[in-house]
Amino acid sequence: MSTEETLSNLLHETRRFEPPAELAESANVKAEVYARAAGDREAFWAEAAERLTWAEPWTRVLDDDNAPFYQWFTGGKLNAAYNCVDRHVEAGLGDRVAIHWVGEPVDDKRTITYTDLQREVAQAANTYAAMGVGSGDCVAIYMPMIPEAIVAMLAAARIGAIHTVVFGGFSAEALAARVEDCGAKLIVTADGGWRRGAHSALKPTVDEAIEKLGDRGKVSNVLVVRRTGQDIDWNADLDVWWHDSVATASTEHTPEAFDAEHPLYVMYTSGTTGKPKGIKHTTGGYLTQAAYTHWAQFDLKPDTDVYWCTADIGWVTGHSYIVYGPLANGVTQVLYEGTPDAPERGRWWKIIEEYKVSLFYTAPTAIRSFMKQGDAIPAACDLSSLRVLGSVGEPINPEAYVWYKTVIGGGAPVIDTWWQTETGATMMTPLPGVTAAKPGSAMGAFPGITVDVVDDEGNSVPNGSGGYLVVTSPWPSMLRTIWGDDQRYVDTYWARFKAQGYYFAGDGAKKDEDGDIWVLGRVDDVMNVSGHRLSTTEIESALVSHPYVAEAAVVGATDPDTGQAVVAYVILRESAPGDCERELSDHVRKEIGPIAKPKRIMVVPELPKTRSGKIMRRLLRDLAEGRGVGDTTTLADSSIMELIAAGKAAATDE
Ligand code: WT7
Repeated sequence: MSTEETLSNLLHETRRFEPPAELAESANVKAEVYARAAGDREAFWAEAAERLTWAEPWTRVLDDDNAPFYQWFTGGKLNAAYNCVDRHVEAGLGDRVAIHWVGEPVDDKRTITYTDLQREVAQAANTYAAMGVGSGDCVAIYMPMIPEAIVAMLAAARIGAIHTVVFGGFSAEALAARVEDCGAKLIVTADGGWRRGAHSALKPTVDEAIEKLGDRGKVSNVLVVRRTGQDIDWNADLDVWWHDSVATASTEHTPEAFDAEHPLYVMYTSGTTGKPKGIKHTTGGYLTQAAYTHWAQFDLKPDTDVYWCTADIGWVTGHSYIVYGPLANGVTQVLYEGTPDAPERGRWWKIIEEYKVSLFYTAPTAIRSFMKQGDAIPAACDLSSLRVLGSVGEPINPEAYVWYKTVIGGGAPVIDTWWQTETGATMMTPLPGVTAAKPGSAMGAFPGITVDVVDDEGNSVPNGSGGYLVVTSPWPSMLRTIWGDDQRYVDTYWARFKAQGYYFAGDGAKKDEDGDIWVLGRVDDVMNVSGHRLSTTEIESALVSHPYVAEAAVVGATDPDTGQAVVAYVILRESAPGDCERELSDHVRKEIGPIAKPKRIMVVPELPKTRSGKIMRRLLRDLAEGRGVGDTTTLADSSIMELIAAGKAAATDE
């Protein structure tokens, strides 16, 4: 479907879903919050920050002296791990379950209370310290979805070390690039994890990544959790078992308070150029907004709710809405290791039934794949515990939204939360007890946040029009910079609407007749595949690094299952054999990871370029989405598209 078609479909969407009366009645936040927050944004966020425990109070809420290098809660000191763990134990909630962990093999389960978590985080913090890791050092985490992954993050935070979690599906190249960029001293990993009924190795990838780093980079230890028991190589100089070190360390550890602006983590994400950007988040503002939004948008009742977010901790959603937001709020949550269809397609629904999950957060791509499998699978489970459902990662189409709400949620409100790695926490969403939500719309800014849709000049567009989505004032959980590259931070996010001082998110959006906002997707060369951001240039670089490839152009084409799919057009060198598409596709998998693997690779004789040599991806996208050749007038050689289109029939789906 073209963007125009999507748009006109969206504009015909007239359904609205009022909040259930009972939920509205007892909701954590009511309609008055919007006016109150707008009345004094700083006071509103200061009140949200008061929900945390501070070792020293801040002297200034927002410091905008050196924009766009904003600071929040200046002078305040706190410890993020203490806020997520110890303070709940001190409040008498030590026996509350923090994590119901569910391994992929059925019956492989663990229950971890806040007291258990406190002990294990203290042990890991002591272990890190004994390895010479301290405040300001970087710890890379490359792990499956096991409780130790959360412990590894919190232990870093506890000692003021900066963590960078690398998604376990990334390749050795991608891991090495991140370890190098942040200068990690320690890598925490596992032998492997369970994926689709089999062991999926992690430690060998770490070994390979370390080999790629000249002289190991700064890595002085690799801490390894034994999860699967599979055979791994052991390097006695570097490798330490978790069960020999963390498990035997002291359970006493006194947390030190760090500055509100002390870095908490770096999360790498794709941008428009090949090199991933290390998004730097700091402590006080980040934790404030992660915790407050989580509490407000899910109407969280920590004493009674059971929460489950299906994201991987390797993405920002896992950071903000598995680790920092929920744990700061003292929730009980489910953590699931495996794939949704292992060992059977109803696995997720069985987990919801077993743990009586009440708040559930997932991505549209997952919802669409379940929808395809039919209603019978979820109908076999009792899902009546669900009371608020969340969606994140990409626009949710109205059909999937309504299916999610009715078949899974039995009518429960759906919050469509729009945010980004850079924003750290939710920026737009309906509120479950307040908003009459429209399926497919993120509706409007979260209280205390200001967004707008603007034209090329930065003027607010009228209702009924589209434009660029911008954030018009700083927010607590905003990124502080790109790790090691302040200039790129300014250029990427603040240059487009410099005159207005707006943050440009990279998304296009539309205001409907009521002024509600519909996010349409990226306007730059960034794709969104299954809710994961991938850069076209990153995949192109991977392709041209293969000896068979002379040139490559990658586009994201609309895909019914994954939102967008990676489609690559390649020009081969003469030395290349015929039929090498699979080999090229495997090469991308090796260079970046399985998520970046092209769904289709088309071998073409030429690529469409403007006279100045810029590849016209728009034309390739039209072709990949089956819209024919379109307007080729700006091409240097207008016959090229005919050539490419003629060859297209020969390309096969992988
Ligand atoms: C991009 C950010 C937010 C954590 C997961 C992805 C798209 C995200 C929505 C939504 C429409 C959405 C945007 C955004 N996106 N949520 N509810 N509706 N689009 O984080 O990898 O940083 O990607 O995801 O295009 O810019 P990310």
